[in-house]
Amino acid sequence: MKYYLAPMEGITGFIYRNSYGKFFNNIDKYFTPFIIPNKSENLKTRELRDISPENNKGMNVVPQILTNDSEDFIATSRKLQQLGYNEVNLNLGCPSGTVVSKNRGSGFLAKREELDIFLDEIFKMEDIKISIKTRIGKDSPDEFYELIKIYNKYPIDELIIHPRTQKDFYGNNPNLEVFKDALSLSSNPVCYNGDIFTAGDHNKLIEAFPEVKAVMLGRGIIANPGLMNLIKNNTNMDKKVLKDFHDEILYKHIEVFNEDRNALMRMKELWGYMIYIFSDNKKYAKKIKKAQNLRDYNEAVLSLFMEQEIIEGAGLFYNEN
Ligand SMILES: Cc1cc2nc3c(=O)[nH]c(=O)nc-3n(C[C@H](O)[C@H](O)[C@H](O)COP(=O)(O)O)c2cc1C
Repeated sequence: MKYYLAPMEGITGFIYRNSYGKFFNNIDKYFTPFIIPNKSENLKTRELRDISPENNKGMNVVPQILTNDSEDFIATSRKLQQLGYNEVNLNLGCPSGTVVSKNRGSGFLAKREELDIFLDEIFKMEDIKISIKTRIGKDSPDEFYELIKIYNKYPIDELIIHPRTQKDFYGNNPNLEVFKDALSLSSNPVCYNGDIFTAGDHNKLIEAFPEVKAVMLGRGIIANPGLMNLIKNNTNMDKKVLKDFHDEILYKHIEVFNEDRNALMRMKELWGYMIYIFSDNKKYAKKIKKAQNLRDYNEAVLSLFMEQEIIEGAGLFYNEN
């Protein structure tokens, strides 16, 4: 089985990926948060920094592109190829309103004719692998049965399926019936993505679908960076390892951005997921959220680590409502 780290805008940038690799080193492929090509054809400084080879040493990284313009996709792929990448990933999953209203991400799924033409163009590039990360439709899961006919026309390196519609956002459960059909209908290799928050979730998935050869995990790993060790070796994460991992991410952010504010913002976003794996976490979550400077922040985090425990086998309990 192969395991991938999901792209998460604002979270799984190069600092997170490198820190994760250093402390856990059990991911087969890391997907970058999306790059949006612009007409000037230059990557933004932030995007360039995230994919530059010196910031991604020793890791198997796949840059992700979000666009519905085939020329932009091709131009960006060529740039990435020059940097040494041999695979790029197309984002057909992002559910955010601003993205969808421009018919990008999962919004592109509702424009099947245009999507087909777009894919026809980009798959003319024969010397770079293209994988696709997709939801199963924009408004209805039934759309998937038309989409898969289109996907099957192209040699997609891997079809990563998050079996929700755009309308679902992160609510409802992943649609495993449609995923099951996807496995039998797809002529391309399929990877599963969605709601693997505990080793139990993982085991249930592979029992239901033993033919699945690749799983992508996002929020589950962000909440519990020890999740892959639980899945692979049934071992729980040491609190000290998590603290060292946390410190690495914090201080690398301070170093790279040369200021505390941005680093604190990033760390607070991480805690929005990680806090769930600690016992009796409410009061600490509040303190971390409220911290306005590095000293208060570190104090809040340190007291959490000293006074509470990581709950064995814990995972993210995500609830939209
Ligand atoms: C904060 C956040 C940012 C995300 N950014 C991206 C992104 O840049 N590209 C993408 O394809 N998916 C993105 N996703 C979706 C995840 O990659 C993944 O498909 C989704 O979270 C479901 O998987 P999970 O249940 O394992 O987290 C994002 C999700 C979240 C919560």
